[in-house]
Amino acid sequence: MEAIRIARDQSDNIGLTASLGNLTSLLRALGLYRETFSVGVRVIGLAGDNQLLRGVVAQTYCHMSASAYVLMRFQQGIECGRLASEALTAPGSMTEVINLMAILGNTIKNHLALAQTKEARSCLVLMRRLSAAMPANSRAALNVSLAEAMCEVADGSTAVGITRLLGLLDQTRGVPGLYIDNMEQLIRAYNASGNFSAMARYTSDLAEQIIQSHACNTQDSLHELGIHEETLRPGQPDAYPLARAVALLPSDMRGLNEPVAQISVRHTHFENLAVIAELREDDSGLHIYRVGRLSALIAAELGHGDLFCAALERAARLHDIGKLAIRDQVITKPGKLNSAEFEHVARHTIYGHRLLSLLTDDGEMAREVALCHHEYWGGGGYPRKLVGIAIPESARIVAVADCFESLCHVRPYRKEWTVEESLAEIRSLSGAAFEPRIVRSLEAVVTKLRTETNASTPLDQLLVPDIPSSMLRARGEVLALIDTLPLPWQNNEQSPMFI
Ligand SMILES: [Fe+2]
Ligand SMILES: [Fe+2]
Repeated sequence: MEAIRIARDQSDNIGLTASLGNLTSLLRALGLYRETFSVGVRVIGLAGDNQLLRGVVAQTYCHMSASAYVLMRFQQGIECGRLASEALTAPGSMTEVINLMAILGNTIKNHLALAQTKEARSCLVLMRRLSAAMPANSRAALNVSLAEAMCEVADGSTAVGITRLLGLLDQTRGVPGLYIDNMEQLIRAYNASGNFSAMARYTSDLAEQIIQSHACNTQDSLHELGIHEETLRPGQPDAYPLARAVALLPSDMRGLNEPVAQISVRHTHFENLAVIAELREDDSGLHIYRVGRLSALIAAELGHGDLFCAALERAARLHDIGKLAIRDQVITKPGKLNSAEFEHVARHTIYGHRLLSLLTDDGEMAREVALCHHEYWGGGGYPRKLVGIAIPESARIVAVADCFESLCHVRPYRKEWTVEESLAEIRSLSGAAFEPRIVRSLEAVVTKLRTETNASTPLDQLLVPDIPSSMLRARGEVLALIDTLPLPWQNNEQSPMFI
């Protein structure tokens, strides 16, 4: 951000374009695909036909093409892929050739999503030629093999494609990005062949891989921040009450106690992960904060004290952290899920519990909420089909708050409901899915919020008046800064390509 601001203020066009190019990589890595597009179009506009920025332009188009695939904007993905290849018509270095391979790989995926197998195959021919002209480079060869398998599956030679993909797993295992791609393609191939049990098995392996990589990355960044597990091991002051206590401290006092401050930073870190997991379904990123607040209010209505309510608010914010391991294609799927996809989504409860167990010794409440917030009071929920009070109370409360809050907002697979419609739905599920006592408390909370405050203020605003997340604030700042930069086309017209 600082580099972007300085370059903008000094009218350093090359510096500005390069820093924005770096930002697109970061945004894509965070799964902020729409933002990747928004920044990407500025990069392209600023670069113009400056030859020095050819690599940045190609890289940016590559990120846009990959983001378009996830957002199911396949035609745009193809267009970005074409423009990226044009920017690299005469690749000058090995890095550029490797970039071109990645661009072609993305273009093939976008073509195949539109059943354009002929076009995908011509990209494949180009990939083969590039790979043959390169010195022995196993990564390039693996990329070609993956693309070949994708085309085979699309051509109907599913069994051949699956055999190839299975054979590749041993070779891609050591290359994390490629391994995930390999697994993704295998899952798609099994989906195409209708073999849902194999699909579920590999989806679960893929999720495990993603959980492990998130746990490693998080531990690395916490280590960089100087937050070590030593502060939280048994024998140390009990970390859990400290975490609860920190929520009650005024923010300027939080630095006074070292372990308390560290736990607070760590929770913020986890919340950021939970926001990333949520953004694919809820563009505002505020769902987890509203569920947290609502859960705390319901708990207070039920008679719990401040410490319990504060701890529940924090735990509830992490309820869907396990969705980090759920594939983009499944989360954003507008239609009905097949059995393997449903099973995959249902496992976000187990992944959330597992991720929080890998990352922290404390946080028992967060773990139980993550694991049990889809259990039903009357039985029949998931993952363990618990019944009644066998479900932890924290999770029973979050279940009601989560369902109500989701119903009030749009999701990829349905439109939003009014507060009254959502309350009526929750009421109709009282006793079956939800504990009646908690449903009544939700109704009391909503009524109080509306009568004790300005009734015309939307409920969302009452629950979360300010943006509480540092990450969402940073995202807002990025977008506001981007708005100060010129668009690549004249008179503020929107380019038809990026609508
Ligand atoms: Fe959930
Ligand atoms: Fe949720």
